[in-house]
Amino acid sequence: MFGFHYRLERKAIGLVVGIILVASIGGIVEIAPLFTIHQTVEDAPDMRVYTPLEIAGRNIYMREGCYACHSQMIRTLRDEVERYGPYSLAVESKYDHPMLWGSKRTGPDLARVGGKYSDEWQVAHLVDPRSVVPESIMPAYDWLSRNRLKTDNLGEDLKALRTVGVPYSEDMIANASSDAHGQAAPDSKEAESVVTRYGKETSVRPFDGKPEELTEMDALVAYLQILGRLTDAAKKPVATAER
Ligand code: HEC
Repeated sequence: MFGFHYRLERKAIGLVVGIILVASIGGIVEIAPLFTIHQTVEDAPDMRVYTPLEIAGRNIYMREGCYACHSQMIRTLRDEVERYGPYSLAVESKYDHPMLWGSKRTGPDLARVGGKYSDEWQVAHLVDPRSVVPESIMPAYDWLSRNRLKTDNLGEDLKALRTVGVPYSEDMIANASSDAHGQAAPDSKEAESVVTRYGKETSVRPFDGKPEELTEMDALVAYLQILGRLTDAAKKPVATAER
């Protein structure tokens, strides 16, 4: 074996051919699965896009570094599926730019936290985690209820997302700011057009309990409540079939 290698090392062309041969094995192993990607990445025709308010919440989630303690990807392992629900599918992150799968769980996974708790619980938990989970080590984010949400740049955010493939229409981009206001104020005249633009599944309600003011808390809670609910694709395959 080594004798052959010593002889090969003395022949430049032979060695080059050998290197190419060996390196291409690694290449094939990495590249070949990509040819079948259309079979592995599932389709989700019911997939909806994030509303401007949810995008604003997502931006706050990134700003505050929530991803440093929370993942947003349920693995295929049984303990995860039993704790968090159906494992995450690639298509569910289709409109996530950047993705927030995370790599560390100091707190639980949040991929399917939408609808798990009421808005009131989410607000109370963010203002003071210890008020609802006495043993919690999560930091408090009470200023979110006091900070007014800035909505002027949301149109630009949607535009940027469109360049990477999220299907926002001109109409959605032009009305991003008023849609953000409308989604958290059900009695306002802007509220109706949010539903027309983003579909009847859209939740329109005062997420922080105060319809008169649009705060960062509204945005973050709207985002948390939509996690795992953009599509039903993951609920279709039977996740723990072997039971
Ligand atoms: C230092 C780590 C840390 C950071 C940063 C953090 N969390 Fe947490 N989070 C936790 C821990 C630990 C728990 C579990 C105890 C509890 O429920 O408070 C938790 C629980 C939660 C829960 C409840 C999940 C469930 O299924 O019960 C939500 C929702 C949540 N966090 C959202 C957030 C958001 C939003 C942010 C950013 C604004 C954030 N967290 C930042 C550690 C963190």
